Amino acid sequence: MAHSLHDDDGVSNPSANLHLHDVVERAIAAQPSRRAMLKSGLGIAAVPFLGGLAACGGGDDPAPAATPAERMMGFTAVPTSSTDSVVVPAGYIATPFLPWGEPMTSTSPAWKTDATGTAAEQEQQIGDNHDGMAFFGFNATGDGFGERSDEGLLVMNHEYINPEYFYAPGSDATDWLLPFTLEKARKGQAAHGVSVAHVRRAANGSWSHVKTSPYNRRIHGNTPMTLQGPAAGSAALRTAADPAGTEVLGTLNNCGNGRTPWGTYLTCEENFNGYFGNTDPVGRVLTARENRYGVGTNAGGGLGNGFGYRWHTVDPRFDINANPNEPNRFGWIVEIDPFAPASKPVKRTALGRFKHENAELVVGTDGKVVVYMGCDERNEYIYKFVSTGTFDAANPTSLANRNLLADGKLYVARFDAGAVTGDQTGTGEWIELTHDLNGLSVANGFADQAEVLTFARQAGDRVGATMMDRPEWVAANPVKRGEVYITLTNNNRRGTTTASSNAVDGTTVAGAARPPVDEANPRASNVWGHIVRWNETGAQASAMTFAWDIFVLAGLPSITGARAPSANVTADNLFNSPDGLAFDSFGRLWIQTDGNYGNTGDFAGMGNNQMLVGDPVTKEVRRFLVGPSGCEVTGITWTPDRKTMFVNIQHPGEIGNHPNAPRNAVTTAVLTDNEIARTPLAFSQWPNTGVRPRASTVVVRRSDGGVIAG
Ligand code: FEO
Ligand code: CA
Ligand code: CA
Repeated sequence: MAHSLHDDDGVSNPSANLHLHDVVERAIAAQPSRRAMLKSGLGIAAVPFLGGLAACGGGDDPAPAATPAERMMGFTAVPTSSTDSVVVPAGYIATPFLPWGEPMTSTSPAWKTDATGTAAEQEQQIGDNHDGMAFFGFNATGDGFGERSDEGLLVMNHEYINPEYFYAPGSDATDWLLPFTLEKARKGQAAHGVSVAHVRRAANGSWSHVKTSPYNRRIHGNTPMTLQGPAAGSAALRTAADPAGTEVLGTLNNCGNGRTPWGTYLTCEENFNGYFGNTDPVGRVLTARENRYGVGTNAGGGLGNGFGYRWHTVDPRFDINANPNEPNRFGWIVEIDPFAPASKPVKRTALGRFKHENAELVVGTDGKVVVYMGCDERNEYIYKFVSTGTFDAANPTSLANRNLLADGKLYVARFDAGAVTGDQTGTGEWIELTHDLNGLSVANGFADQAEVLTFARQAGDRVGATMMDRPEWVAANPVKRGEVYITLTNNNRRGTTTASSNAVDGTTVAGAARPPVDEANPRASNVWGHIVRWNETGAQASAMTFAWDIFVLAGLPSITGARAPSANVTADNLFNSPDGLAFDSFGRLWIQTDGNYGNTGDFAGMGNNQMLVGDPVTKEVRRFLVGPSGCEVTGITWTPDRKTMFVNIQHPGEIGNHPNAPRNAVTTAVLTDNEIARTPLAFSQWPNTGVRPRASTVVVRRSDGGVIAG
């Protein structure tokens, strides 16, 4: 079947071959046992868009449809590890690829191992701290979006930098960042954003970066981009440098991602607040809107210093005294066309401004494009966008389709206990965030829809959204229409002190509330996290109500009672802090962690951060990969044939409370950032021995060339 589909549509113009029924047929082919479920009631599919244009096929390979025996868990679980290496199952090959600093093109400067590279050089190199990622296969002629598995564009986010490894020490013995200069700020900005890399698979299965390709591109913290949608041009988005409020420089803290069926990439701006400082932290009182988003605060960087990046000390754009509206121009979802290297990225304001994790896009059977999104902070909300227009499946890359994220409605989720309290299942409702509805009025502080979207957190407060245990990635099940999963990574601020909620008037400081446990967030001091899933009413993505349950509560089986994990957590699959989350086109749920790697106490036996596979039907969870020391595993994508999986390793070498943390020989204290900056090989040398640790993609393949995990 896949061969005939391939023959039918896999050879030329993608605009002729993205028929949604094909996606269903391919999913059926990949897993015949699910035919009845997939076919029932489906006119067109409601599946998320996973890899290229379809669920499988492409390139010159036999498609996985020809492998009817494909298994959900066709691999042997790996044990935990605290070593400085990537661990994968027997029969698999994991190869580092495109690390921080890799030259983007054949004429880009080489990365300097002592971190003395300049801002101008960094703009021509792969960014730092890889995160969300998507593989877009080429069409057969290699000049646009298609479904080949042997060649395509690997597009990835660069979330942030680790200054202790990113900057070579300066002249001050006690503070390696001094003197801090505009050049250093620019270098940091250049390492954020997105990389588009043209990649190609060789006959032996290995991958290379096509450095001569015109598609290679860096988008970073100073790349001009368009502000589009209801909030574009509004008062809160205007600055002295951009009085029209329609063009912003750069994208920052690019966390998770999304992809569209018209071949574009979505990058999600998360902790944008941390880059902004307040040069008058005593004299300038923060507004409620700033406080609710954590702008101008002291988190980690000292009084008024944001997260401590210091950009505001040399670049007034990041000083909220000089430019109080600049933070309002971040916290959006940005749409990028990787096949048009000269195209200008677009910040889609209709999808709301908050600390975006990822953006999971689904086309419903009604043709509506639905984007699910989490706001990652303790006690924040889950949102979804529903397009006004409908998807034209016959012309997937049409101009009309390409504008579907320009206009629509934003909703926020309320999770209710349902008929029975205490059974960890319930019902829920999507509450519309539209001006003059649900109390989102002038009287309550919202001048218009632009303000509702720009201050979506406050809108959620007003309408009674449910405070969740740090919403991270959302993933929609490709073989069960309407079923959606979200990681709630952890929350140590629930049920621990006198209860308080995000105030309805939007004045609560970010992360300051201390809600009690509730049905969907059932554990006090939830240090391990959990995964909630819901099924939209009528299996329709645009539905206004849903039923939910809990897929897994992470933790230690030795802990019983109210803080116990769910039954599918065993001694063999211990993990904490689920974060990255994605389905492959077969229907496996891939779970990536960003948690506590201390391997002791509440986290005993969990080791380094890792990646596991979940079976949505049986709820079995099995460990597939463990990352190197101090890293987080985040970002995942596949070639359409699922024979190559790309996984990102972020911030290897971040010391934290790792059991192998290097210590000062005299004081025996764990090395400080100032010390590690001067001994960057002391803890991790992943991925290249003898070189400071670098975030990197890892290419995962089966040594026999088969389907990953099949
Ligand atoms: Fe960028 Fe919530 O992780
Ligand atoms: Ca219940
Ligand atoms: Ca994350």
